[in-house]
Amino acid sequence: MGRPRVLSGVQPTGALHLGNWLGAIRNWVDLQDSHDTFVCVVDLHAITVPHAPERLAQDTLSTAALYLACGMDPQRCSIFIQSQVSAHSELGWLLNCVTPLNWLERMIQFKEKAVKHGDNVSVGLLDYPVLMAADILLYDADLVPVGEDQKQHLELARDIAQQRVNARFGSKDAPVLKVPKPMILKEGARVMSLTDGRSKMSKSDPNEGSRITLLDPPELITKKIKRAKTDPERGLEFGNPDRPETDNLLGLYSILSGIGREAAAAECAEMGWGQFKPLLAEATVAALEPIQARHRELMADRSELDRVLTEGQQNAETVANATLQRVRDALGLAKRS
Ligand code: AMP
Ligand code: TRP
Repeated sequence: MGRPRVLSGVQPTGALHLGNWLGAIRNWVDLQDSHDTFVCVVDLHAITVPHAPERLAQDTLSTAALYLACGMDPQRCSIFIQSQVSAHSELGWLLNCVTPLNWLERMIQFKEKAVKHGDNVSVGLLDYPVLMAADILLYDADLVPVGEDQKQHLELARDIAQQRVNARFGSKDAPVLKVPKPMILKEGARVMSLTDGRSKMSKSDPNEGSRITLLDPPELITKKIKRAKTDPERGLEFGNPDRPETDNLLGLYSILSGIGREAAAAECAEMGWGQFKPLLAEATVAALEPIQARHRELMADRSELDRVLTEGQQNAETVANATLQRVRDALGLAKRS
């Protein structure tokens, strides 16, 4: 038995924010030592809502560069672009044909996004979780590290693998697909908006002040934190349901400063906002500074990024094409001659 396999990905829509980093990417970095790790930039998911074609390629590369800048190490993991491994689209289609429509219609993220996009909802948006299932199942992934919001999609991937493929087309001792497990870390799993402590920090919030992106310059970070919503009480604490903004900002401080929850709660228990906010701004700027410096380097000279992505694609194809062949065979498609 080799090392357990991990697969995850983030969409290249807009700049990644603290939620993406703390809820997802940071976990990947920790896993790459002990796990066989594949991470991709899911550009096919990014086009399920209206997008800017002139920006997609650049955003995709910039996202891959951020993976590296956040500490993904191509010696220990494979980094690739989803659309460049055609098995994703192909398995997506095969899984479409076995997935019940009503499983997709009840996905919370679809319902939320469908409201936002009104009469411009694509079939792709409804189908998004099936493509995500293909992403995961192609790699025989044991674990899928994601933020809390993706849990329902992971359950769907498990159900498709187990009930719709293995139960129908596999035998007991020879399952066609591996059934993956979600991996959702508690700390940072849900980073909330700076303007509303009850909704999550999101790329699609029209208010840019609601999120801090990994590429925001220091002055902008400071400004956003200064304007972040707070409450009239003095002193910061965790776990007070009436103070969601306080819980979120203190949580961010505890992670970004590296001191942990207990020390952060003790340090800030009596603090006023005028004292806390500059402290949080400083910790955030300091945490992002090395990421931004490395990202600038990688984007200035593309040769390293190109090399990493080519190698990642080759590694991904080797694994993905073997799984795809297994599914084609199980469904009874004619062999290529
Ligand atoms: P997305 O921005 O939807 O492409 O999400 C990419 C990854 O970041 C997924 O694993 C999400 O679960 C995670 N993520 C997105 N927003 C947040 C957030 N506010 N807090 C924690 N994790 C998040
Ligand atoms: N839907 C995920 C998100 O928005 C992104 C994603 C697509 C993904 N395919 C994946 C995450 C496969 C993990 C594994 O966050």
